[in-house]
Amino acid sequence: MSGLLAGKRLLVTGVITDQSIAFSVAKLAQENGATVVLTGFGRMSLVERIAKRLPEPAPVIELDVTNSEQLAGLADRVREHVDGLDGVVHSIGYAPPSCLGGGFLDAPWEDVATAVHVSTYSYKSLAVAALPLMSPGGSVVGLTFDATKAWPVYDWMGVAKAGLESASRYLALHLGPKGIRSNLVSAGPLRTMAARSIPGFEQFEDAWAQRAPLGWDLSDQEPAARACLALLSDWFPATTGEIVHVDGGYHALGAGS
Ligand SMILES: NC(=O)c1ccc[n+]([C@@H]2O[C@H](COP(=O)([O-])OP(=O)(O)OC[C@H]3O[C@@H](n4cnc5c(N)ncnc54)[C@H](O)[C@@H]3O)[C@@H](O)[C@H]2O)c1
Repeated sequence: MSGLLAGKRLLVTGVITDQSIAFSVAKLAQENGATVVLTGFGRMSLVERIAKRLPEPAPVIELDVTNSEQLAGLADRVREHVDGLDGVVHSIGYAPPSCLGGGFLDAPWEDVATAVHVSTYSYKSLAVAALPLMSPGGSVVGLTFDATKAWPVYDWMGVAKAGLESASRYLALHLGPKGIRSNLVSAGPLRTMAARSIPGFEQFEDAWAQRAPLGWDLSDQEPAARACLALLSDWFPATTGEIVHVDGGYHALGAGS
């Protein structure tokens, strides 16, 4: 077997359509020698249908990251397919409609709590659930949207992402002694199901198209997926708690540039 991830066993969450960033990660990972197990949430028959479009059909395990029973049983379910895990990909985000689109001042705590549970706390929950299968050299990778700034319409999802970025650093702190890394890819805007659920998302699209120094293709998930693969590979052995920007360079610019 050859490729960047030859022989690696990966758990990839977050596939819901073939536009999902997770689908691109799973596809590229298989093309680069990895064995992939997917998890799916909610619409399992849809996820199973999409999984069949991968180069190799991948098994799909049901996982709602807010369901503690499913989290507790995850390692055993994964063991039915692979004998261990070298990498885990968290590609999950959700915020109720009140939390997005300009409603920042009015969103009730219950909705904010849901956003943080699914989008932030779950990063830790997933890593801990997978931990019994992991060993030194393992890698956990998640997806963020630059949370160092306040964006129009992103609202409480931005707060949840700021928490995710911090959670990744704490995971790096707590899993480092076990030889396991935690890193995030900060992607520019991509047209996925999650993005379409954000009212006013096109404001990001226009900004990126006009300003990213390298340009930015809103329909190409591959650059973000490639960065995930690199972080899952053995080529970042001493990197943890890091955020790699895959945004055409947008984050590096100041106002008016
Ligand atoms: N699309 C973008 O512009 C963009 C940019 C930067 C970062 N991201 C991040 O990338 C990640 C993947 O999103 P995407 O854009 O590929 O969209 P997507 O809609 O394809 O994926 C989001 C996934 O989250 C899953 N999910 C939601 N609630 C869940 C739960 N309770 N348990 C388990 N899974 C759950 C959905 O089933 C779906 O598969 C998210 O963290 C998102 O915030 C997206």
